Amino acid sequence: MLRLEVTCDPARIDFDRVYHFLNAHSNWAQGIPRDLFDRAMAHSLCFAGSLAGEQIAFARVISDYATFANLVDVFVETEYRGNGHATALLTEVFRHPDLQGLRRFTLATNHAHGLYRRFGFHAPARPDTLMERYAPDVYKR
Ligand SMILES: CC(C)(COP(=O)(O)OP(=O)(O)OC[C@H]1O[C@@H](n2cnc3c(N)ncnc32)[C@H](O)[C@@H]1OP(=O)(O)O)[C@@H](O)C(=O)NCCC(=O)NCCS
Repeated sequence: MLRLEVTCDPARIDFDRVYHFLNAHSNWAQGIPRDLFDRAMAHSLCFAGSLAGEQIAFARVISDYATFANLVDVFVETEYRGNGHATALLTEVFRHPDLQGLRRFTLATNHAHGLYRRFGFHAPARPDTLMERYAPDVYKR
């Protein structure tokens, strides 16, 4: 099987393709305006995975690169799922030198808990201490 090639060089990432997936196919960012998407990407550490030059996977980290990071926008294009590509991509994410020794790394997932458990994630030990302001329909208003 082809090995996933991972880059976090923005110049080598096809953001049009990422935008298309998130806007058309994700269940969390549908309807996101392009200028908002571009601003989010510009202020994040983005990882793209390609097979034989075709970009098929993506993940984005928002971080201060010292104490805290949040993982978002993780996806593998539908026809490539179930082949370990998310695992390969996330291995590179969590190996990145600027994301070591953080006090807290967070993420939110509806279904893929097993994927993230492989990397040491678990349900919050003290959920009563966590709060959020959440507006899931913000792009649809
Ligand atoms: C979640 C997603 C990124 C996984 O990509 P993938 O390349 O298929 O993942 P992998 O092949 O590396 O799977 C790794 C493991 O995670 C588990 N897993 C993957 N996706 C899962 C899902 N949706 N539900 C439950 N478990 C899942 C699998 O059981 C797999 O374990 P196994 O190897 O023992 O079978 C992909 O299904 C996807 O893009 N989904 C739509 C976008 C999405 O929901 N993203 C948000 C994730 S928080």
